[in-house]
Amino acid sequence: MKNIQISPSILSADFSQLGSEIKRLEEGGADMIHVDVMDGHFVPNLTIGPPVIKALRKNCTLKFDVHLMISPVHKHIESYADAGADIITIHPEATDNLEGSILKIKELNKKVGVSLNPNSEINLIVDHLEKIDLVLVMSVNPGFGGQKFMPEVLEKIKELRKIKNEKNLDFDIEIDGGINFDNCKDAIDAGANILVSGTTIFKSNNGDIKKNIDLLKLK
Ligand code: DX5
Ligand code: ZN
Repeated sequence: MKNIQISPSILSADFSQLGSEIKRLEEGGADMIHVDVMDGHFVPNLTIGPPVIKALRKNCTLKFDVHLMISPVHKHIESYADAGADIITIHPEATDNLEGSILKIKELNKKVGVSLNPNSEINLIVDHLEKIDLVLVMSVNPGFGGQKFMPEVLEKIKELRKIKNEKNLDFDIEIDGGINFDNCKDAIDAGANILVSGTTIFKSNNGDIKKNIDLLKLK
């Protein structure tokens, strides 16, 4: 079985208890923490920023998989690196110099991810695949948790896996949005090796995080 990692999205957590919520995720077997940063401009929602990430960093040893849904993003990259992000994922539409933003994240010794919205094609990032550590394939339109999974993005994941094999690249393929117990196997079979999930992990089986993470890993 491929090594499948689970990156729970704290967007679905109890925001009044974020510190203890990420503790629960850590104890429940999460491989990393997916932090959805939204600015109310790139997406129609506004969540958290560097001060909150800095506060959470103190009490969590897991990698912070920070998904920046903000634009313009370039000038903010350093503050997320300083706050404790381990993976910094940006949207190509949020920067006027994708190559420059990718290099900025690498200069800061962070893993770099690039995210494709459901309607964004691979050709937007194909020239950069050698330089990045992760492609985040959105299976919902970004902005909110609890949305319906868009199965058409599975073709994009299969295409990414094909390019990865042909070019002998080793970027991770992460899928994000509407992942549940019915579609997680399809996502894995298509080639995703990191699954983001918020609603399913926090709300299913009376919020039994360990059980929900194990079920998503097809254990
Ligand atoms: C949406 C976020 C996702 C979302 C996932 O813009 O990027 O990470 O929070 O939540 P669920 O699993 O509830 O779709
Ligand atoms: Zn996300």
